[in-house]
Amino acid sequence: MPGIVVIGAQWGDEGKGRIVDYLASRADMVVRYQGGNNAGHTVEVNDIRFKLHLIPSGILHPGKICVIGNGMVIDPIALVDEIMYLEGYGIDVKSRLKISDRAHLIMPYHKLLDEVIEEHKGELQLGTTRRGIGPAYVDKAERIGIRVCDLLEPKYFEEKVEQNLRMKNEIIQKVYGKKGFEKGPIIESYLKAAEQIKDMVCDTTSIIYEFSKNDKKILYEGAQGTLLDVDLGTYPYVTSSHPIAGGVCIGAGIGPTLIDSVVGVVKAYTTRVGKGPFPTELLDKTGDIIREKGYEYGTTTGRPRRCGWLDIVMLRYAVKVNGLSYIAITKLDTLGGLEKVKICIGYKYKGKTITDFPASLNVLSECEPIYEELPGWEEGISDIKRVEELPENLIKYIYKIEELTGVKVAFISIGPKREQGFEIVKLF
Ligand code: IMP
Repeated sequence: MPGIVVIGAQWGDEGKGRIVDYLASRADMVVRYQGGNNAGHTVEVNDIRFKLHLIPSGILHPGKICVIGNGMVIDPIALVDEIMYLEGYGIDVKSRLKISDRAHLIMPYHKLLDEVIEEHKGELQLGTTRRGIGPAYVDKAERIGIRVCDLLEPKYFEEKVEQNLRMKNEIIQKVYGKKGFEKGPIIESYLKAAEQIKDMVCDTTSIIYEFSKNDKKILYEGAQGTLLDVDLGTYPYVTSSHPIAGGVCIGAGIGPTLIDSVVGVVKAYTTRVGKGPFPTELLDKTGDIIREKGYEYGTTTGRPRRCGWLDIVMLRYAVKVNGLSYIAITKLDTLGGLEKVKICIGYKYKGKTITDFPASLNVLSECEPIYEELPGWEEGISDIKRVEELPENLIKYIYKIEELTGVKVAFISIGPKREQGFEIVKLF
């Protein structure tokens, strides 16, 4: 029953889609377990750049079963659009995609609330993707959420929408001064989407469990990253779900005994979208070079990402929080051409050295990175076909990461294409 979890070890956008795509070729099933269409996974296949938001990246491999787990929040309209987008490329989605009947729905009022709450926060804005993720998870915890199984019972769905609109419209109109929602158009568009997805809706736990018992290979694909976890991330600058490895059990509806190993995906440097402290952020030319070379712009929102050096304090934290078995390093090609590269090995805080990632954002925002400098490597390495041919300084950089985190590097990538990655440890 091999079960491998792939999670982001930083603030998201580590290139998880790339690793999942690689491992998916040998998996039987790929499962997403948290978040929604706030995620953006880019995978390049035969010169086509696929952008996925809700559907697991495994869908790009013919024959693989893909699961949208109960821990996700689904905008059914966006889901239908994504299915049609993939079908437009001749990809068979409907026979391979399984959607949990227990997943919660993102409703139009969640998206509006995401926007107006952000605006009202002023200085305290998080910079959310405005896809309604937070308000949908709030409703789930509040026990007023609407689930996929409700969508398949039109009468009950209508009643639930009605109940919710009574509360939501009061808030939208009286607190935020915006126009409320009419029930009719919501029901019409959601039931239309329901027709399109209903044959894919099922009890996904049973399917995952069956696959596992039959020794099938299952890949659990995290979205966002460790530092965006609502419990263990840089709260409150986090998303509302659990991108960490522990989130798999709840979000896929399985027990921990079904998981064998956890791979943390680490970008060769650090990026972050949205607000919040970022000790190794580069606000200079080097930051701009990394952003342009690495095309560091949000897949979902197009926002420029903040860029900085690799932060080992943060990575060591991710190692512990996720119990990482292996690391996969992506985008090593982006750092090519820099004379020197830096790795943050500790923080200076009020004259003292800190090596544990602090909970307090006040502390974090006053931390000064302590760097170790390494020699850089040349540009244009993306077409190298053998690990032995990689520049010596790049290999040193990888060993340094292994040494500082105490975790074996299992995979590296030097470009966005499928063939531009090397497996160092065979995972499946
Ligand atoms: P939300 O998930 O839209 O509520 O946004 C909360 C925070 O998570 C914001 O700082 C977003 O920029 C960040 N975030 C959400 N999804 C992603 C992602 O896929 N990659 C990187 N950051 C993300």
